Amino acid sequence: MTETPRILAFAGSLRAGSFNKRLVKIAAQAARESGAEVTLLDLLDFPLPILNQDDEDAHGLPGNAKKLKALFISHHGLLISSPEYNSSLSGALKNVIDWVSRAEGADEPPLAAYTGKTCALMSASPGALGGLRALVHLRAILGNIGVWVLPGQVCIPLADQAFDENGALKDGQKQNAIHTLARTLVEVTRKLG
Ligand SMILES: Cc1cc2nc3c(=O)[nH]c(=O)nc-3n(C[C@H](O)[C@H](O)[C@H](O)COP(=O)(O)O)c2cc1C
Repeated sequence: MTETPRILAFAGSLRAGSFNKRLVKIAAQAARESGAEVTLLDLLDFPLPILNQDDEDAHGLPGNAKKLKALFISHHGLLISSPEYNSSLSGALKNVIDWVSRAEGADEPPLAAYTGKTCALMSASPGALGGLRALVHLRAILGNIGVWVLPGQVCIPLADQAFDENGALKDGQKQNAIHTLARTLVEVTRKLG
C-alpha cells in the first residue's frame, strides 16, 4: 500500500465514563504514532434503533447507519475495544455491526463495509478476565463477515483501577501491549494493501 493506512477506532460502549473508550483512545494514539490516519468515534454520537427488518424494508437504513457504513468503507482497518456484557459483546456493538452489514441496493456486493478490512481487538472490564469472553464472540462474528482479525489481542482486567489520571494504563506492560497491537495493525494493514 502506498497510501497512509486509515484506521477507524471505537469502543462498543455508550457509557460516558467507559473504560473501553479510554482504552481505544490509547490504541488510536499509538496507531497514529505508527503512521496511520485514525478516526476515533464515539458510538453515542450515532444513535440507532435496534435493527428490525420490517422497518428496514419500509424505510431503508437510518441516517446514522449510512454514516457509520460510509466510515467503515472509507477506512482500511478497525480498532475495537469491546465491553463484556453477560460473557459476550454489548448489544450496542452488535447492533452497529448488524446495521453496517446491510446492503443498500441489489448492485452492492454483500458485506461491502467489512470484506478485507483488518481489525485489532481489545477489551476492558472491572472483572478478573478483562472482557476476554466478549472477544471470543466478537472475533468469530468479524471473521465470519470477512474481516482479517489479528491473532493478538489485549484484555484489561480490574479496569476500574487500571488507568491513571492522564488516561494511560498504570501497568507499563499492558500499555506496551496496546502500543504493539496498534503498531501491528498498522503494519499488517499496510502489507495487505
Ligand atoms: C448488562 C451487563 C452485563 C455485564 N456482564 C459482564 C460480564 O459478563 N463480564 C464482565 O466482566 N463484566 C460485565 N459487566 C460489567 C461491565 O464490564 C462494566 O459495566 C464495564 O464498565 C462496561 O464497559 P465500559 O466501562 O466500557 O462501559 C456487565 C455490565 C452490564 C451492564
